[in-house]
Amino acid sequence: MTRLSLLLSTCIAASAVLSTSALAATPPHFAVENGHFLLDGKPYVIRSGEMHYPRIPRADWRDRMRKAKAMGLNTITTYAFWNANEPEPGIFDFSGNNDIAAFVRTAQEEGLNVIVRPGPFVCAEWEFGGIPAWLLRTPGLRVRSYDPRFLEATARWFKRLGQELAPLMSTRGGPILMAQVENEYGYVGNDRDYMEAIRKQMIDGGFDLPLFMSNGPGPTWMSRGTLPGLVSVINFTGDAAKTERAFRRSAPMMEGMPRMAGEYWTGWYDRWSEPHKTRSTDEVTGAVGWMLDHDISFNLYMFDGGTNFGWMNGANNEADHYLPVTTSYDYDSPVDEAGRITPKYIAFRKVIGAHLPKGEKLPPVPASSPTVALPRFQLDESVGLLDALPGLSKPQTTLTPHGMEAFGQNYGLILYRKTLAEDAKGKLDVEDVHDYATVLADGKPLGTLERGKHEHELPVDLKAGTTLDLLVENMGRINIDPAMAEENKGITNSVLVDGLDLTHWSVYPLPLDDLSGLAFRKGGHPQGPAFWHGSFDLSKVAGGTFLDMRGWNKGNAWINGHHLGRFWSVGPQRTLYVPASWLRKGHNDVIVLEMQGGGSHAIAGLKDPVFSTGG
Ligand code: GLA
Repeated sequence: MTRLSLLLSTCIAASAVLSTSALAATPPHFAVENGHFLLDGKPYVIRSGEMHYPRIPRADWRDRMRKAKAMGLNTITTYAFWNANEPEPGIFDFSGNNDIAAFVRTAQEEGLNVIVRPGPFVCAEWEFGGIPAWLLRTPGLRVRSYDPRFLEATARWFKRLGQELAPLMSTRGGPILMAQVENEYGYVGNDRDYMEAIRKQMIDGGFDLPLFMSNGPGPTWMSRGTLPGLVSVINFTGDAAKTERAFRRSAPMMEGMPRMAGEYWTGWYDRWSEPHKTRSTDEVTGAVGWMLDHDISFNLYMFDGGTNFGWMNGANNEADHYLPVTTSYDYDSPVDEAGRITPKYIAFRKVIGAHLPKGEKLPPVPASSPTVALPRFQLDESVGLLDALPGLSKPQTTLTPHGMEAFGQNYGLILYRKTLAEDAKGKLDVEDVHDYATVLADGKPLGTLERGKHEHELPVDLKAGTTLDLLVENMGRINIDPAMAEENKGITNSVLVDGLDLTHWSVYPLPLDDLSGLAFRKGGHPQGPAFWHGSFDLSKVAGGTFLDMRGWNKGNAWINGHHLGRFWSVGPQRTLYVPASWLRKGHNDVIVLEMQGGGSHAIAGLKDPVFSTGG
């Protein structure tokens, strides 16, 4: 018996749930034994592709899965996104695009297996790494740690998620083969009690199947937080030579285990103000060819990147530099953001097709998803955000500013208002700006403060009686430690003028999840942040489109009530993807929140996205 199978049996003996399947007369459908994954008793190479249920409109899940199968994949991997599924403490949402069980069942119907990575932390360039922002309402709570307040919340998550997924485990005839404990925990900690607590919560929730952890290659990351009985897989990218090195360096930690790239990165993600990222097709297909030559399992991260719709992009923190991720999560993946087949897809299909086990045949390539151009239309109705305030938010009062979490808000914008009791002359100092503030006096814009540029001061010369407004946008919480603990959004500490605190604020949370009450009118010329409305008609819905936001400055856009995400002239993303399923035959409504005055108030739909930096 190898080291791993010994370890696995130790784990199985320790778990009542697992011992039932271990004692069953028929061997489990999926197992890990003697250095192999076994499916129905035969060695099995997992050829997985990652796609995320909230990032792809539900109407397109099946289409993307068929494309995955036709590219030669046999498995779909998804994270489970805790913050999408538990938007408020104890209130769960598994409907519509959040229906992970339906996502898994669709994969099964398409003849695909599934791997689930339920967190609680997922990273994934997703808001706060998938952890609910409402946990920040508890001061001092440490996420991803043994903090009992965190573990109480994760226990509730795994219990509820288990109700959705337990019937879909391979131990019960479902397609879920394996599940991941935490995510790259080795990068941030070494607390085995924490990892053990998460594993136990998963097992208690019904994840009675092989469990694994994923980390960067090499003993340092892989050994940290590791538990007996967990399969250990590695996350990386690079050409065939680099892939070989990654597995060689990791070999001591994979002894007796099946070898697998838990995430092999097929492309990369974009951050605002940086050039668009791509990764060479030759390099990634060469690496996958090498893995197939060596019977190594893999998961292509991403197979179809999709979109960080709404407010759900994450952010990085590098050398104390805040770098938010764009709305597009195209990732230069084999299937693009609009569901189209790319040259990378065709190249992967060729390599995988050449390595198929005897008897397996690739289905024909499904049609690429169509995209259409839309003639330019005007958004000629508007309403200033400050004018619309009463219909959007109920103010709360506070002595000194606090982050939005203290006011029960998770995402969106938040406005801090004060009528000055005395003249204010000198430096206005906002600590800390999380993440982008527009400063207005009596409705006139004075300037902006951007966290990414470490901006926090503006010169002011204001008279008593002036209304000072600080409108702050949450640009996405950091999705990777260690900066996560301080990701409260809005103004997190204080506002000073010449060193003296401004106190007694009215605070207007602006989650902007219902814009139906906006009173638009034609011919207005709002000066500061404003909503713009326009519409277009379609004789039929023939495909998705990309809204061309060039000419606009910075803000958000909605179509037919769906929040498409953010635009920003700094690029690289200059267009916003609109899925076909969000368009309607006949009348279509577009609302844009533009943070700055001036610029264009028209939009065209394009067949292709535009990526460029520099205005
Ligand atoms: C890591 C994480 C993923 C993702 C990728 C980069 O591997 O596990 O969630 O963040 O990096 O895209």
